[in-house]
Amino acid sequence: MSVLSGKNILLGITAGIAAYKTAHLTRLLIKAGAQVKVVMTPKAKEFVTPLTLSTLSKNPVLSEFVTKDQENELWNSHVDLGLWADYMLIAPATANTLSKMAKGTADNLLIATYLSAKCPVYVAPAMDLDMYKHPTTKDSLAKLSSFGNTVIPAESGELASGLFGAGRMAEPETIVSFIEKHIMASLPLFGKKVLITAGPTYEAIDPIRFIGNHSSGKMGFELAKRAANLGAEVVLITGPTSQSCEGLPIQRIDVVSARQMYDAVFEHFDTVSIAIAAAAVADYKPKNVALQKIKKSETSLLIELSPTQDILAAMGNAKGKQYLVGFALETENELVNALGKLERKNLDCIVLNSLQDKGAGFKKDTNKITLIDKSKKNHEFALKSKAAVAVDIFNLIIPNIDA
Ligand code: CTP
Repeated sequence: MSVLSGKNILLGITAGIAAYKTAHLTRLLIKAGAQVKVVMTPKAKEFVTPLTLSTLSKNPVLSEFVTKDQENELWNSHVDLGLWADYMLIAPATANTLSKMAKGTADNLLIATYLSAKCPVYVAPAMDLDMYKHPTTKDSLAKLSSFGNTVIPAESGELASGLFGAGRMAEPETIVSFIEKHIMASLPLFGKKVLITAGPTYEAIDPIRFIGNHSSGKMGFELAKRAANLGAEVVLITGPTSQSCEGLPIQRIDVVSARQMYDAVFEHFDTVSIAIAAAAVADYKPKNVALQKIKKSETSLLIELSPTQDILAAMGNAKGKQYLVGFALETENELVNALGKLERKNLDCIVLNSLQDKGAGFKKDTNKITLIDKSKKNHEFALKSKAAVAVDIFNLIIPNIDA
């Protein structure tokens, strides 16, 4: 899935011949899952029609401060457009527009919108060879970069004038992948590997039956999704669950028993920066697994249980630079029990759930947590969706991990 998926992108088009490529550029942005609104300079309409762009972007194309709609005059608020956008891309950006952007000359809707936008702005310059080389253009681009905008360099090749050299707008595919890579690299967990355990484990009694628990895996999957959205490389080791993370850049490893989960965790633990144990691992397993189905009889059946490995405690033992997070699901003496686990398992942080809280616990879409870090500071949160809880957990982790 592209990092542009679900994002609002304002595409500004100015009057250069490369404007004809913006139809394809709009398609690529839509294909990446973005919502696109187009703002054109009035002259850009001579190079590509608003009808083409409104059809492809599925939004009206704006180019004037005021649009006449039969009897009414409608004000196109550049402020609202600027607030709507997650990213603004100006492609092609002519020398004239670059200069106006650098000086703040808001004499058209596009520049006014650029000045109102608070989001990251990308410019893809396009002009002829000597214009691109001109010190004025270089000065505009340097100024725009110094204001925090990102320049997508023009490419070299045959120009519309017939001259050969730098000045061609980057190809639409290049522009989209440049922006995707740039956004990825700016994400707080880019370059970090995150390991998450999720779901229940099943401990076999015989070929048919097992000891398990009610964990749905929802919390662990939300954590994995959040980590992926923050740019991390994610390894999700999960017990049996109906949850899905399809389409996301998550390496999912399905396991059944605590032993399998342990083995999968330690294949990756050395290379991760963050490990979060959200799985409800069975604490006991049948000491002997019957090879054949256990038959019914009139007498009571005793199954002897032996402890499973404590995967989280083993991670705590092996821990180097990893930031280690555990969960504690408690029914009584919540804080004391959670603190005990934090210390015993050598954790950096523990997420406490109490089954006494309505809306918290297994199979629910919501959760109510208290985060306790190594300094024993408590952070209590309101009842919220598990997706929002995952946001809170990473907000606490990110400032505390090694760069
Ligand atoms: N955990 C684990 N391996 C186990 C048991 C638990 O990795 N065999 C992890 C869980 O994923 C969770 C944390 O340890 O992050 C605490 O789990 P919990 O069941 O609350 O605590 P236990 O240590 O099992 O203690 P108790 O059941 O006595 O409360």
